[in-house]
Amino acid sequence: MISLNDLRQFKMQGRKFSCLTCYDASMAKVMQVAEIDSILIGDSLGMTIQGNDSTLPVTVADMAYHTRAVRRANQHAFIMTDLPFMSYATLPDAIANAREVMQAGAQMVKIEGGAWLAETVANLTRNGVPVCMHLGLTPQSVHVFGGYKLQAKTREAADQLLEDCQALADAGAAMFVLECVPAQLGKEVAETFPHIPVIGIGAGNETDGQVLVVQDMLGLTMGKLPKFVRNFMAEQAGAEAALNAIRAYHAAVQDQSFPSAEYTFQVEL
Ligand code: KIV
Repeated sequence: MISLNDLRQFKMQGRKFSCLTCYDASMAKVMQVAEIDSILIGDSLGMTIQGNDSTLPVTVADMAYHTRAVRRANQHAFIMTDLPFMSYATLPDAIANAREVMQAGAQMVKIEGGAWLAETVANLTRNGVPVCMHLGLTPQSVHVFGGYKLQAKTREAADQLLEDCQALADAGAAMFVLECVPAQLGKEVAETFPHIPVIGIGAGNETDGQVLVVQDMLGLTMGKLPKFVRNFMAEQAGAEAALNAIRAYHAAVQDQSFPSAEYTFQVEL
């Protein structure tokens, strides 16, 4: 099983590592066979699995449930789990909720925010919980940002983000996720912290790792996607492969071409 130390080693060796979101056992098994390096049980499951229009309704129990399912099916990848909205607003909550997802199989928790969370990071780390800090576009604060938009667009804002990273690194943060920031800032954060793996999503290709929401990169998300999403499924199987497969199934049921003899138990009774 890949450990946090392995990810640090990958960074030091300049070996880029892959990360995908994952919420269930069958996809976790596919990722094991594909040797994906790390898995994020993201609170994006509030949208991809639960159908909400933001991550805000997700609970700690949801996160623990999906973490257990993924961990059972994948013994290869490094697993981190999001602590959801308002579940780490106080230190006792952060400790109790981190315990729940770590006991479900996570190797690290991810929380969203900047320097103001330094004390939380220090406390979790002291209690044996490695912490990944998510900065840039932090979806749990969507109502503060007023939408999902590029962050840290000015030198001043980029320097503020670097200062936040420094305070969090000093408190013991063991990983950073940077979402939707200029590529130059992704590179600067990765270079400023030589011992801390930095994962990007819409942060350019010079971070140490990359993460995507698995439904997005498989073309399973209907509607408009962010600029940073690449549909890898379309490149393998043609555009809208999943949608076309489901359409073909629907048509085959209607015209009775499915199930044909090949898919049928023919027993004389
Ligand atoms: O919840 C999630 O899927 C995430 C990624 C977008 C990084 O936090």
